[in-house]
Amino acid sequence: MTSINHHFNFDKEVNRRGTNCVKWDEFTDPDIIPLWVADMDFETAPCIQQALIERMQHGCFGYTHVPESYYDTTIQWFKRRHRWTIDRTSFIYTSGVVPAISAIIKAKTQPGNKVLVQTPVYNCFYSCIRNNGCIIEENPLQIATSESNNGTTAYKTDHYYIIDWDDFEKKCADPAVKVFLLCNPHNPAGRVWTRWELERMGEICLKHGVFVISDEIHCEFVMPTDREAAIATCYGEKHVQYTPFASISEAFAQNSAVCISPSKAFNIAGLQIANIIVKDKDTRAQVDKAININEVCDVNPFGVIALQAAYTPEGEAWLTDLCHYIHQNYLMARQMLEEALPHCPVTTLEGTYLLWVNIQATGKTSQQLADHLLRHAKVFVNAGTMYGEAAGEGYIRINLATRRTLLREGIRRITNSIHN
Ligand SMILES: Cc1ncc(COP(=O)(O)O)c(C=O)c1O
Repeated sequence: MTSINHHFNFDKEVNRRGTNCVKWDEFTDPDIIPLWVADMDFETAPCIQQALIERMQHGCFGYTHVPESYYDTTIQWFKRRHRWTIDRTSFIYTSGVVPAISAIIKAKTQPGNKVLVQTPVYNCFYSCIRNNGCIIEENPLQIATSESNNGTTAYKTDHYYIIDWDDFEKKCADPAVKVFLLCNPHNPAGRVWTRWELERMGEICLKHGVFVISDEIHCEFVMPTDREAAIATCYGEKHVQYTPFASISEAFAQNSAVCISPSKAFNIAGLQIANIIVKDKDTRAQVDKAININEVCDVNPFGVIALQAAYTPEGEAWLTDLCHYIHQNYLMARQMLEEALPHCPVTTLEGTYLLWVNIQATGKTSQQLADHLLRHAKVFVNAGTMYGEAAGEGYIRINLATRRTLLREGIRRITNSIHN
């Protein structure tokens, strides 16, 4: 395996037990390796730690304003790194992406309307839709096969998700579907949607008057291009790149609300900070109202400080090394799984740090296998059915964002336990 010269030490063992940590303190058994919830075991970037220490030393933690520098930092980051120019006026800040999604659904639907999602998908999408009295409409993602043909050049024969376009258009044409809740990049399918795919999704939504909510929380986790992780996609594109949905056209920007946050990339989810970018003035007023009705319009001073420290050159240097580290973890895990379990296809990971593995060949359901692994291998992974009863059945989700030695041991236990 190629070794990368890390400036930052992601191999460092951080003991998270006894810190009220959702990921680790779920279990009392100290032997359990938790590879579940999307939370990394790495200390956040030193520049963020330093900024938080300085803020903490002030000693006063009352209600906080969001300063102009907060907006400037975010605008500069997305402009430079992702070629997306965000208007200062488009921002609505809030305490998380899930509260953001819930409020946007509230703003753009009436109870009884349908919200379209591409399944399997992040579990809270379901609760956000249901809690607003709406109905979930599914556009199930498809595994590409050598027969998959979208009329362009190459095919991808890896275990790889693509969109069923006929179904997508059919669902959007249903007048009850008011909103499409896009996950870009997609958790747990591991796809970083191509510009071409996003254009096509966005055009279909415009055609049928469907509003787009784009959850872009995983946007910084795009695996470095290499032969294995980024073989030309079935649409003939040569490398994987995140495209902000609203950056594609003015019409898309006007017909969308995009949710962004440094929380996943910098492992600061507990600090609860996120932004919604809504270009259309009327929609922005509706979303702002829903954010207020839901009482999620206040953020905490640590989140505000952390975001500004994250979106800097120092934060970016750390992030670059982190993505390399996670990519190496992915290649290692994938190789171990493929060697030991050749009948369990590993989904190609273009983005996120969440590996989606097909375990149908084990003869167990997702839940049975997850329970079995917890009991016999002492590894906790998510059952695929968390992300869709039908679309997630036959899969498990493995969190790769931990130190490599621990991940290796976790994967070793998983493969051994499935063999026995
Ligand atoms: C796609 C997606 N959106 C949102 C979240 C959570 O966002 P937040 O913690 O800001 O509410 C997650 C966490 O795993 C996620 O995977």
